[in-house]
Amino acid sequence: MKIVVIQGPNLNMLGVREQQFYGPMKLEQIHAQMKDVATQNGIEIEFFQSNLEGELVDKIQECYGEVDGIIINPAAYTHTSIAIRDAISAVSIPTIEVHISNTYRREEFRQKNLIAPVCTSSLIGFGPFGYHLAMVGMLQLFNEIKAMQEAQKTQQA
Ligand code: DQA
Repeated sequence: MKIVVIQGPNLNMLGVREQQFYGPMKLEQIHAQMKDVATQNGIEIEFFQSNLEGELVDKIQECYGEVDGIIINPAAYTHTSIAIRDAISAVSIPTIEVHISNTYRREEFRQKNLIAPVCTSSLIGFGPFGYHLAMVGMLQLFNEIKAMQEAQKTQQA
């Protein structure tokens, strides 16, 4: 099983940017923790960060047929990007959205979320711990998918 973690614009600045919203952890530290969980559970994991909308769309498309789960924080594009939303819809891969801050407690322009309706689930406002919760959630989804596939096989036999 393989998970791709996709990080949107300015998330490479974690640890530096607006610590009152995002805390002191750097992206590399968050990814190291996620990698530990993946390794402990025999899951392959890849990390990708871009500040460019088209590169994020390309990465989501590349996941098609290759990846079992996507964990994505589209950052500011959450509130604007029909292209990222359409890409997630197009690939039909279980996708968990993460937001470090509680966007619903912030400016009005962050209340609009174009991405959540096409995701399996959203984790919002848990700080960097949201990424860990997303890993646990994805493992649970994998178990459920596996159980469903096995039940289907038994029915067909
Ligand atoms: C964010 C919230 C977005 O509104 C913001 O533009 C970000 C980060 C979060 O993780 O809380 O860059 O996605």
